[in-house]
Amino acid sequence: MTKKTAFWIFLLGTLSSTVLFLALTWDTHRQVVALSHADKIDARVVAGKRAFEKYNCNDCHTILGFGAYYAPDLTRVTQRIGEKGIRFRIKSPEVAFANSWRKMPNVHASDAEVEDMVAFFAWMNEINNNDWPPQDSKKRLSRGEQAMVASVGVSPGAAVFQSKGCMNCHALHGTGGTFGPALDTVGRKMSLEQIGRYVRDPESVNPKAKMPPQKGLTDRELDEVAKFLSSLK
Ligand code: HEC
Ligand code: HEC
Repeated sequence: MTKKTAFWIFLLGTLSSTVLFLALTWDTHRQVVALSHADKIDARVVAGKRAFEKYNCNDCHTILGFGAYYAPDLTRVTQRIGEKGIRFRIKSPEVAFANSWRKMPNVHASDAEVEDMVAFFAWMNEINNNDWPPQDSKKRLSRGEQAMVASVGVSPGAAVFQSKGCMNCHALHGTGGTFGPALDTVGRKMSLEQIGRYVRDPESVNPKAKMPPQKGLTDRELDEVAKFLSSLK
């Protein structure tokens, strides 16, 4: 390659990337109001953001790409654990995370502040940020599920268990969360039907259930995961 050709490749490459970058940036900005559904920001959402800042939740948590990674990303926390789950964890972290090696402090937020933060998280949950953060992406989860079945050779039900967030709260073979019970022998005490019902709507079985209904599962996935868990004896 002559120096001149290299120069032209450099120049055209740089120019076209710049144009593409500016065009996509413009396109994103054009859509921001719709994507962020800014019209849904009401006084409680604003108050919730203030409370979130007042207690420096960002020192440990990330939202929308800002913050620390010591604790879970909260951008999609409403989808992940539900509003009840959020309330419980902010008000009683010492109970919620009693068995965890990572600790969250009790900031002693007032009931009104907790409700404001719940509203803020609910609003944020609906922002269309093109499937970000990836760990909460529905698309990625089912692809991850497929990949796991193909590469590790686990059963589809085990893959659903690993990819649909069950492990945030439940452990198997000593790996996973501690908020819910370990499920190594759950098949001894619950049938396939009972497990399926519990996962879909815990409160219909146990009015005091702390487990949020797992709404992100298709019927097939629910079936697979219940089959898998009921086989653990
Ligand atoms: C000193 C660090 C720290 C601060 C400050 C903090 N948290 Fe946490 N938080 C944690 C840790 C660590 C966890 C995860 C504990 C675990 O699962 O073991 C957590 C978990 C959570 C969860 C559950 C997330 C999930 O996906 O299960 C919520 C909701 C939450 N925090 C909200 C808040 C809010 C709201 C604030 C501010 C009022 C806050 N946190 C301040 C450390 C912190
Ligand atoms: C946010 C935490 C959380 C998530 C996520 C979660 N669970 Fe649970 N789960 C719990 C808790 C806590 C319990 C204990 C009973 C209660 O309070 O509901 C439980 C109980 C159960 C039980 C009954 C076990 C028993 O011994 O009674 C089954 C089965 C179960 N979960 C399956 C699942 C499956 C499958 C998933 C994923 C699709 C899942 N869970 C996701 C927290 C969670």
